Amino acid sequence: MSDTRKLFIKTYGCQMNVYDSERMAEALGAQGYVLTEVAEDADMVLLNTCHIREKAAEKVYSDLGRLKPLKAAKPDLKIGVAGCVAQAEGDEILRRMPLVDLVVGPQSYHRLPEMLARTEGGARVVDTEFPPEDKFDHLPERKAMRGPSAFLTVQEGCDKFCAFCVVPYTRGAEVSRPFARLTAEARGLVDRGVREITLLGQNVNAWRNDGKGLGDLIRELARIEGLARIRYTTSHPNDMAEDLIEAHGTEPKLMPYLHLPVQSGSDRILKAMNRKHSARDYLRLVDRIRAARPDILLTSDFIVGFPGETEADFQATLDLIRAVGFGAAFSFKYSARPGTPAAEKPELPAEVSDARLQTLQALIATQQRAAQEAMIGREVGVLYEKPGRLPGQMVGKSDHLHAVHVADPTAKVGDLVRVRITASAPNSLAGERLAD
Ligand code: 5AD
Ligand code: SF4
Repeated sequence: MSDTRKLFIKTYGCQMNVYDSERMAEALGAQGYVLTEVAEDADMVLLNTCHIREKAAEKVYSDLGRLKPLKAAKPDLKIGVAGCVAQAEGDEILRRMPLVDLVVGPQSYHRLPEMLARTEGGARVVDTEFPPEDKFDHLPERKAMRGPSAFLTVQEGCDKFCAFCVVPYTRGAEVSRPFARLTAEARGLVDRGVREITLLGQNVNAWRNDGKGLGDLIRELARIEGLARIRYTTSHPNDMAEDLIEAHGTEPKLMPYLHLPVQSGSDRILKAMNRKHSARDYLRLVDRIRAARPDILLTSDFIVGFPGETEADFQATLDLIRAVGFGAAFSFKYSARPGTPAAEKPELPAEVSDARLQTLQALIATQQRAAQEAMIGREVGVLYEKPGRLPGQMVGKSDHLHAVHVADPTAKVGDLVRVRITASAPNSLAGERLAD
């Protein structure tokens, strides 16, 4: 076998999977694999999957089906399934899909090279354990980063058990990585040119270690010279500690952006969802966050058509959206997930959920437009991530996480510049570079 083999990874779902895919690429890189963008060229195809909604999970099976001719033409091709579908459906994947060589759950990525070696002899391998060792301690060091912005997983798992959600089952209980490891990894990233770090966790603001909470971690990371921006996602309203809220007012490197899923604006539905907060709790929390950082841009997640949701419940959700004014939001039709408590309850007719989703998305679109238009004339920081489509143009993210296009022919990727916003397009802003 030649020394360099090619690895194709497809990532579904959340940013935690994006981070995990990078770490798996590094683990397999140590075995001589280099990444390719073309599945047809690959010696190994790895699907890093998402189980959060039925559509996402089913997509994996149809994508695997599409790999059949590739495997037929190239019998040595290794096909692996990682991520939350792997965790939830382990052996069933092998049963349904004879072309799959290995199935690896999110807590076992450090065992990938050894698993892969076992497949060389023709074995089909499954590992969906929650091993006692921490995978991050056994994965190779972070390599050169591809851009100025990097993810850093600080916490995994969830103890909240929202009635609709598979995460507590697929990712397991909340586990926080140790403070010292995280500060060391962050310093390593900055040494490699990273200027923005997004702290990741299914319940990122539940991170705690050694008596410290996420606010303490953020303040410590902010002391790293060369690190310009810090973000974190995804947060649960009940874990927004006072000192974390305060950090939004006092720590200039912490960006004025917060993704804070609420799911519904109806207390009855929130209760049925086991969210353990009311709509009023959420609105009060938003007030406190805005008191700390008045220009913060808030985004959220919503589920429409949860079992038992009445028209009045749905109207309460729209009321909450109107009361907050979001910069953007993800919204989903409820999808029953096997093994979750809500899956036992009768579902709403699809037409009802479809219509509600459309109404909600139209309202969010209006708010998104308003939030973007409110940026016109304002001065913001923009971290350039890549060249734009037009010659001399750069694209980057603003402090508020808007994509911004700027004509700036002498700039480089990784520059953090001052920009005045001049115009708003459907999903991005345009701006002009200001003198430093
Ligand atoms: N159906 C629909 N949406 C869901 N989400 C989680 N589980 C489900 C489900 N069963 C959504 C929630 C969560 C986001 C990541 O996905 O809004 O915040
Ligand atoms: Fe799922 Fe709720 Fe945990 Fe979020 S907080 S991962 S929605 S159970």
